[in-house]
Amino acid sequence: MPIIVHTQATASPAPPPPPPLSLPPLPYGYDTLEPVISSQVGSGRLPITAAQETTLRNQGGGLWNHQLFWKVMASPGSAPTSRSAISPALLSAIQRAFGSVDEMLAQLKGSADAVFGSGWAWVCVPSTAGDSNASGGGGGGLQLLTTANQDNPLMKASSNLFACVVRSQPCAPILGIDVWEHAYYLQYQAKRSDYTQAWQQQLINWAAVSAFYEAAAAGDLSYNDT
Ligand SMILES: [Fe+2]
Repeated sequence: MPIIVHTQATASPAPPPPPPLSLPPLPYGYDTLEPVISSQVGSGRLPITAAQETTLRNQGGGLWNHQLFWKVMASPGSAPTSRSAISPALLSAIQRAFGSVDEMLAQLKGSADAVFGSGWAWVCVPSTAGDSNASGGGGGGLQLLTTANQDNPLMKASSNLFACVVRSQPCAPILGIDVWEHAYYLQYQAKRSDYTQAWQQQLINWAAVSAFYEAAAAGDLSYNDT
C-alpha cells in the first residue's frame, strides 16, 4: 500500500517548483546502436517484471490520485465549497451530463459506495467533449468511473508499464474520492456510506474542480503536475 505523507499549509511561501525536465531527442534512430545497445533500451521500452510493474503502477497511481484528492477538498463551510463556486462552464457540463449537481453527486456517491474493496470513484472529462457518458445520461462531456486500488482513468489496463503513464489516455479525472479504508475507517469504521455522504456534501472544492474541468476540456492535464 503506498504511503502518502503530506504536510499542512503554512504561512511561509512555498519554494518555486523545479523547472520541468525533458530529454533531448536522439540524433539517430532507436535501432542505430543495435546490437550493442538494443532498440528497447534506446526507446525506453525495457522489459520489466510483473512485480516491478505492479509496484510502479501502485506507487505512481497513489501519488497522482492523492495529489488530486488533496486539491479537490477544502474546509467545510469555506467559500470554495459553496455551490456558487462552480464555474458556468462546469455547471453547464454537469447539467448536460447529469441534469443537476445533486444528481451528479448522488451518482458519484453511489459509485463510491459500490467500489468493491479499495479504490476510487471519479468524475472525468473524456478527450472528446461530446462523448456520451457511461453513467451520466449522455452527451455532456463528463463521465463517472471507478477504479480499483491506485489505478485511475488515465491508465490503460495493460501489462505494459509505459501504458500506465498519465496523459496517454482519454479520460481525465477532475474530481475523485478515495474509498480506501484508510481514508475513513478510523472515523467512520465500516460506514463508508456516511463518509461518502459527508464528503460529497461538505468537502468538495468547487473552485478547484471548475479550474480542472476547464483545463481538462482544453486538453491541458498539467493541473495535477504538482
Ligand atoms: Fe488514500
